[in-house]
Amino acid sequence: MTISDSVQDPIYPVAERLTGKHKANVQSMAEYQSMWESSVNNTNEFFGKLGRELLSWSKPFETVQHGSFYEGDVAWFLEGELNACYNCVDRHALATPNNIAIIHEGDEPENVRRITYRELLQDVCRLANVLKSMDVRKGDNIAIYMPMVPEAVVAMLACARVGAVHSVVFAGFSSDSLRDRVIDCGARVVLTADEGRRGGKNIATKRIVDEAIKGTTTVEHVLVYRRTGSEVPWTKNRDLWWHDEMAKARPYCPVTAMSSEDPLFLLYTSGSTGTPKGVVHTTAGYLLGAASTVKYIFDYQPGDIHACMADIGWITGHTYIVYGPLALGATTVLFESTPTYPDPSRFWKMVQKHKVTQFYTAPTAIRALRRLGDKWLADSDLSSLRVIGSVGEPINPEAWDWYNTQVGKGKCAVVDTYWQTETGSIIISPLPGATKTKPGSATFPFFGIKAVILDPQTGAELKGNDVTGVLAISQPWPSMARTVYNNHHRYLDTYLNPYKGFYFTGDGASRDKNGYIWIRGRVDDVINVSGHRLSTAEIESALIHHESVAEAAVVGGQDDLTGQCIHAFATLKPNVDVSEGLERELSLQVRKVIGPFATPKRIYVVSDLPKTRSGKIMRRILRKIVNGEHDQLGDISTLADPS
Ligand code: WT7
Repeated sequence: MTISDSVQDPIYPVAERLTGKHKANVQSMAEYQSMWESSVNNTNEFFGKLGRELLSWSKPFETVQHGSFYEGDVAWFLEGELNACYNCVDRHALATPNNIAIIHEGDEPENVRRITYRELLQDVCRLANVLKSMDVRKGDNIAIYMPMVPEAVVAMLACARVGAVHSVVFAGFSSDSLRDRVIDCGARVVLTADEGRRGGKNIATKRIVDEAIKGTTTVEHVLVYRRTGSEVPWTKNRDLWWHDEMAKARPYCPVTAMSSEDPLFLLYTSGSTGTPKGVVHTTAGYLLGAASTVKYIFDYQPGDIHACMADIGWITGHTYIVYGPLALGATTVLFESTPTYPDPSRFWKMVQKHKVTQFYTAPTAIRALRRLGDKWLADSDLSSLRVIGSVGEPINPEAWDWYNTQVGKGKCAVVDTYWQTETGSIIISPLPGATKTKPGSATFPFFGIKAVILDPQTGAELKGNDVTGVLAISQPWPSMARTVYNNHHRYLDTYLNPYKGFYFTGDGASRDKNGYIWIRGRVDDVINVSGHRLSTAEIESALIHHESVAEAAVVGGQDDLTGQCIHAFATLKPNVDVSEGLERELSLQVRKVIGPFATPKRIYVVSDLPKTRSGKIMRRILRKIVNGEHDQLGDISTLADPS
């Protein structure tokens, strides 16, 4: 890695709140560089030490790193045994029982719950015993479809305690999507709530679960947490009330010792083709990635209040609401509402109320709030903040500037963190006390990450600065996904086979003159709407299931607010006429099959789609059309009908 300081782009020095009296966990670029060098060159020593320092083991590991990208058999901390729940709950409940583990900021701002580590341990133990009473055992898969309440965190940790593998499904997914996920992992138990509550509205969570379970054969029990108290449909014997079962359960449950490489959870994510993949994360490596990135990238210090605004249904929520902060014994904020409820000052009032030190959100939210005006920040004291983070999509310099000046008041570290569901934890990001930042660049790789840029055609590594290509990683790191559930072949084909010897991210990237990395967005058929990852193939397949549709093609357009947006083209079956309201119906179809967050921005019912003579739809052309680049359609000579 060559980092030169000949400044071309605007560059921001290490922020005020990370210098002087404050002793950041990494305090200079030289310190970062030497730690990074040792993490990639003396990997066993570096991660062996970090693993012993940050995690508690019931049996120590002997081998740090095993396996390779060539073989697809990556494993870490062999021989070691530990339990993720013990690491996130017990050891803090024993040392600092009255420290707050979770601050729940409910949908209504006045509904705040504070849960200590002692209370968290009791609740997790009760639920673990409830799971055992349902005969849940080590290695069983459990689906969690819950709103943003502390019980959802308790659910994840209780699974981890008994060695069950949780599969959290984002509660914005439709019943069809939930069903696919329950079927794929063969869940025997589903944990859910009567209803959700978001932005002042009720969400029919239990009904969606009931609908999803129809047509599945494995689900024996549905455990229902009472969130709103509304009447919900009930299936006798199958459905059980959370509070009834918890009342019967003993508030201590022994932990199940897990091997380092035992799976901790599955999380489904969209790829460029086929059905969603159940990405598998294992216990030790994942937990170490989560804990170490909170420590170094968010510069965690004892007493900090860590607030990640993601939903626990996405990897960001897993790693930066639950596992990372709790592994370090931090106080984590769980936010049930939306950035604009009851008004756009919500985030900032919350920061003031809880004296938040780390705040983490997505560029979409930043852009939306910026657009609504600075007056919404005027009355809030944001002086507790030290590190403010961004994740999920490239952040444009305007949004970065606004975040830095209006939220950070020019005194906080802004960390643009790049990672993926598959990477488990952040892999490219500034370090608050060390890195000079450039708005829009995720800057430099984290410890253990050897980020490389490859020529997309030849796969040759583009060495040196000032290069553009596809982003890959050239050696294994602890928190990387180990496989795709029940489909290791697909894992190899998606990540390890495209460029032999590398992990392929699917993103384009540049390394600029100063060695800074800039993420350019996906190079495959994945689109990113408001930081939500969607596959064009999945949306097309949802449309094709509509009775009138013959063919569909979906492409990403540019959008000032959501980054990308969905443009869907459909042709109709012969003898079907364009009826009134058809576009709306098609849009509903996508919402029904995937979920409301996948609603297309535009649907075009057309008489034909551009195809090659061999019949392949040319999405490249559609992409240019929706982005207003009609004059740059490129070579269209291979089109069957250029008109
Ligand atoms: C894709 C992964 C794990 C984060 C939440 C999304 C894009 C993520 C950045 C960033 C530019 C980013 C990439 C990546 N992405 N962070 N800081 N700058 N792009 O996780 O759903 O697995 O999506 O999000 O395209 O491949 P995900």
